[in-house]
Amino acid sequence: MGALARRVRLPSRHQAAVFSTSPPGSKQVTVTFIEPDGNEVRATGEEGTNLMELAHENDVDLEGACEGACACSTCHVILEDEVFDGLPEPTDEENDMLDLAFGLTDTSRLGCQVLLTPEMEGMRIKLPSATRNFYVDGAKPAHH
Ligand code: FES
Repeated sequence: MGALARRVRLPSRHQAAVFSTSPPGSKQVTVTFIEPDGNEVRATGEEGTNLMELAHENDVDLEGACEGACACSTCHVILEDEVFDGLPEPTDEENDMLDLAFGLTDTSRLGCQVLLTPEMEGMRIKLPSATRNFYVDGAKPAHH
């Protein structure tokens, strides 16, 4: 059966509720990523999305070698003071990974550990000029 055959026509007053992907009460938040070369990318995501996911959804050049497992530092982002100060404290695991990040600053966090909140509307997020990918680079190749 083709995709067209499965399409269901609904009365228009039901469409918004049926096709909305946002849970009730969730907000869309728009932020700007600043890539190392100065390129700025505006990105809008749903409250609760982590910054690494948001970057990837918008083709921002932010790595994420461990895919959000808090086991690398390649998703390192640099936040604005006010935003950084308003965030929950990083976990010990995040702090351990941040210690290994290239170009660590006072307002550095791991993008995969920071979730969008409505207070972040308009926030500017800098990406560091380089990352240190020990998660992959540190892997020892098996000898045959
Ligand atoms: Fe590895 Fe965020 S993607 S710590």
